[in-house]
Amino acid sequence: MSNSTHISTLIKERTGLDVGTQFRADLETILHDLAKGDLEQYLADLRATNENAPPWQTLMRALTISETYFFRDSAPFQLLRQPILPNIILERRHHKRLELNVWSAGCSTGEEAYSLAILLYELLPDLDSWTIRLKASDINNHAVQIARQGIYREWAFRHTNNGFQTRYFDPAPGGWQIKPHIQRMVSFSQNNLLNEVPRPQFDLVFCRNVLLYIANDFTKAIETLIFDSLIPGGWLIMGQSEAIRWQRERWTTHVFADATLYQKPLPHQIMTPPSRYPIASIPAMPDYELALDALYNERSSEAEQILKGILAEKPGHAPTHILLAYILGSRHALSSAHRHLDDALNSDGMLADAHYLRATLFLEEGKDVESREALRAALYCQRDHPLAALMLGNLYASIGDMAKASRTWESARQAVIGLPPETRVSVLSDMTAAGFDALVKGQLGIANK
Ligand SMILES: C[S@@+](CC[C@H](N)C(=O)[O-])C[C@H]1O[C@@H](n2cnc3c(N)ncnc32)[C@H](O)[C@@H]1O
Repeated sequence: MSNSTHISTLIKERTGLDVGTQFRADLETILHDLAKGDLEQYLADLRATNENAPPWQTLMRALTISETYFFRDSAPFQLLRQPILPNIILERRHHKRLELNVWSAGCSTGEEAYSLAILLYELLPDLDSWTIRLKASDINNHAVQIARQGIYREWAFRHTNNGFQTRYFDPAPGGWQIKPHIQRMVSFSQNNLLNEVPRPQFDLVFCRNVLLYIANDFTKAIETLIFDSLIPGGWLIMGQSEAIRWQRERWTTHVFADATLYQKPLPHQIMTPPSRYPIASIPAMPDYELALDALYNERSSEAEQILKGILAEKPGHAPTHILLAYILGSRHALSSAHRHLDDALNSDGMLADAHYLRATLFLEEGKDVESREALRAALYCQRDHPLAALMLGNLYASIGDMAKASRTWESARQAVIGLPPETRVSVLSDMTAAGFDALVKGQLGIANK
């Protein structure tokens, strides 16, 4: 075996990286350059040191692919925004344990970790009351240093909305510097995934576009590391073209329209393979909850005032716009309601509740076709949105398409299966899961007559 083959075997053993396959003929030249012509000595140096040492780090800088950007592949971020993180946040508030633990494993230059920090910042208006541990690690120390520095060029922002840069970054020599309040949220470290010691602590692990470069035998160790690092119910987010390769049965696989996410089952979920989308809920925050309380107790003007106060402090807060649209819609102030939905959907086009409410407004305006389209959009964003499925079923029934109506009502029923009977099916309805189920059963009865 040649020295360069020995080196590529050693790299695989130490880091999992399959550089032989990835770099092929170029590897020889790269290694020759790094070894300054003495491959034997270079091999000896690599053998004698660990992956944090300089010879390894020059190698990692040359051989790891560090491509990344803010909010890369938006689908998982949208799913986290609604409904995954709001559900976790709600549960934590309920148990008065305001804590979230997230890991960006293979974080490269930090864009993914900062995207997560920004998402959490946007979802948690009372962030200061929370303990957020956002760990971001990478084997490549050079990339980690860039991440810590937090200065990015335009290209890193190619998938972000207008205004994102100025909201979260300040102009700096060489690019844009992440603002300190976001930077503080992330703790970067240089570490090899193969040396990490698992401890079940994370609610979310992002390990995206890392296993792509790892030799198959070693992906098993990393998948196990991640599984063992998640708390029961915790989520693994992989890259768009990646999937779990080993022991798939131990994960709950959630296939969404544009992304597949993996969840470590809760103990009682083990051996129940069919996965359902989590029921959407809206991020909780003290004022928002006060507004909900007022609304549910028929004090909608008070709710409206509280919500407007939230928007004054947090312009663009989508759940608040949605709830205001709901209140205004129920007072037939249709154009104001539409405007709030525009604002909500401008900040995130995947908000199923906003599309659903839009459908109710269109229906009131006598625009059945537009209403159906909006319901389809709602169900595209959240396939098990109970209210959208119920209403779309009703619309199909109204045009005599009973086959489609039945199928859609059936999926509405599926959406609430497993919910405690007294739970509201949505913040946008006072129907409980039991009431909803009875109603849909009634509709299905009509269809079967
Ligand atoms: C293409 S980047 C992915 C960045 C980000 N996760 C994303 O998807 O945008 C892959 C990163 O994985 C890191 N990596 C590869 N093998 C690793 C290992 N054994 N331990 C830790 N990081 C590793 C590389 O250094 C590189 O920065």
